[in-house]
Amino acid sequence: MAVLPIIHVPNDVLRQTAKPVLDVTNETRQLLDDMAETMYDAPGIGLAANQIGSLERLIVMDCGSDDAPELWQMINPEIIWSSDETAKLEEGCLSIPGHNAEVTRPAIVRARYTNIDGIEQEMEAEGLLAACIQHEIDHLNGVMFIDHLSRLKRNMMWKRVLKTARA
Ligand code: NI
Repeated sequence: MAVLPIIHVPNDVLRQTAKPVLDVTNETRQLLDDMAETMYDAPGIGLAANQIGSLERLIVMDCGSDDAPELWQMINPEIIWSSDETAKLEEGCLSIPGHNAEVTRPAIVRARYTNIDGIEQEMEAEGLLAACIQHEIDHLNGVMFIDHLSRLKRNMMWKRVLKTARA
């Protein structure tokens, strides 16, 4: 396993759409393991392939605790249902270090994905995990959490982000 460099804004790969994985190969599994190690090293609770410069539809997440880790490694994840009820949670992103904001999203979602053994699965998430999986799937579509903020908040944050990026 290897810790990979995490790409920060502004970088175009974070705005690109990742492509479906057609075959789950040893390389796919290796990349998912490297992504998990990179996420734990950061430390963070989620990472999408765009953030390490790969345009494959792969994400990893762990919203568990240190005592009870819950590693998810997902291939081609997609939201297949989301609740009308929404929840507002503070989010950050390893690609925008040091900048957090509250984001409103559906409170409960169901997702379909392929697991590391190449088997299609479904899962339901609520709370932090629900926000996390939506945040990570957004990455695969070139979307970042700041895009969910009002224009005013987004512009204010973006100015601060660019100031830090230049510093
Ligand atoms: Ni992120």
